[in-house]
Amino acid sequence: MTDSKTETANIKAQKLNVQNQKARQHHETPKTYHVKSFGCQMNVYDGERISEMFKDQGMSEAASKDNADIVVLNTCHIREKAAEKVYSDIGRLRRSDGSKPMITVAGCVAQAEGREIGRRAPSVDIVVGPQAYHRLPEMIESARQGKRAIDTDMPANSKFDILPRRSKQPRPSAFLTVQEGCDKFCTYCVVPYTRGAEISRPWSALIDEARALIDGGVKEITLLGQNVNAWYGEDEKGNRQGLDGLIRALDKLDGLERIRYTTSHPNDMTEGLINAHGDVESLMPYLHLPVQSGSTRILKAMNRSHSRESYLEILEKVRKVRPDIALSGDFIVGFPGESDADFEDTLDIVRQVRYSQAFSFKYSSRPGTPAADMDNHITEDVMSERLQRLQALLNEHQFDFNKDMLGRKTRLLLERQGKLEGQLVGKTPWLTSAHVMAPNLSIGDMIDVQITEAGPNSMTAEPIFTANDTSHG
Ligand code: 5AD
Ligand code: SF4
Repeated sequence: MTDSKTETANIKAQKLNVQNQKARQHHETPKTYHVKSFGCQMNVYDGERISEMFKDQGMSEAASKDNADIVVLNTCHIREKAAEKVYSDIGRLRRSDGSKPMITVAGCVAQAEGREIGRRAPSVDIVVGPQAYHRLPEMIESARQGKRAIDTDMPANSKFDILPRRSKQPRPSAFLTVQEGCDKFCTYCVVPYTRGAEISRPWSALIDEARALIDGGVKEITLLGQNVNAWYGEDEKGNRQGLDGLIRALDKLDGLERIRYTTSHPNDMTEGLINAHGDVESLMPYLHLPVQSGSTRILKAMNRSHSRESYLEILEKVRKVRPDIALSGDFIVGFPGESDADFEDTLDIVRQVRYSQAFSFKYSSRPGTPAADMDNHITEDVMSERLQRLQALLNEHQFDFNKDMLGRKTRLLLERQGKLEGQLVGKTPWLTSAHVMAPNLSIGDMIDVQITEAGPNSMTAEPIFTANDTSHG
């Protein structure tokens, strides 16, 4: 971490702070918990790790927030609406008899607003930032004694060492956080402040965690990071490796069928990583590569440090080594100063790329970010109209992508039960969902199928059975 980054982290960091408040409610030692995660997959992963830690301590998962002794709201701060939701959710935790659970606000709202949460929502007992989850047990003890506990410190790399490994749960697909934080400082984004500087987890910890997941029945691992392709480390021989090296090592682990990674930044798409898409069989043909805008002028104002052209060049290279790759992206409409022509450039890049799926958002002004202080903010009406037009186009392309699959033979990893009896839902290599009637198969099985119907959001498939296949249903 450079000095300026350490400083940024420190400015945002506050030491564990316990406020003695005689009037605060005392709690029994919690026996049941409920963790609710909002926002990105990183939060989902963190929420699962918190849940494992609570289980290790002898707590059990409550059926809902209404009968949990402790509720953890694992929050998202990326857009205004996500942050505001926390406060209404806190209000809804009070029960009809006037009681309430021990309330913990975790995640990025906790990191960004810290002490302010306690002022706005006095019923909150614990405020814990994303890098301090391993300290939850001591914080729960403080809260039990009626003292509010706040910890938004950012100690380097320690939570992963201390949070327990996942227990063995039979499930086919799992996340593995390899990298956290962001050094890119896009001018609209709070992540560099809430998640701190880029930190890569060590090679051996990741290989070990991947092995443990595979031993527990996992067939697909999605490597997670705010800038996952900025991951780097040293392999067991001391050689420096990038994400492609890690992917190649994971590919060699017995039992792992599928590897994915998300979310990537265009500037960290190395030649090595691009080439991995061409020759690593278990690396799935799917790439989530946000561009945010199709206008180089706006990309500059966003401090994206790539242009429309350099982004398109990367996609061209990826398509060259993996022609069937499905592409996904993130878009922001209505960034300050975005003209009609800039927005047309965004529609144009979408037409050029033809994403298989995408996420698009109205610009949301986040306090403390450079863009919040820029001139020429776009009105809500204009943003709504642009978002509608963009989403209509993205939806059309998503449907086209699904329709192109009709008749195609492919392989599904079955991930969950469908609504109908005997129906299972699986994922194609391109991360699209497909429903299949296969009463004799189970979650976690892989099955060869033919796509028979295509809808806007998912597909229907039929099993293809080979002559010596005995498991059909
Ligand atoms: N307003 C709107 N969208 C945002 N994103 C990040 N910050 C903002 C913001 N202030 C979007 C970007 C990013 C995704 C995770 O969220 O598209 O890629
Ligand atoms: Fe935010 Fe940009 Fe970092 Fe992504 S790359 S987390 S959008 S600052």
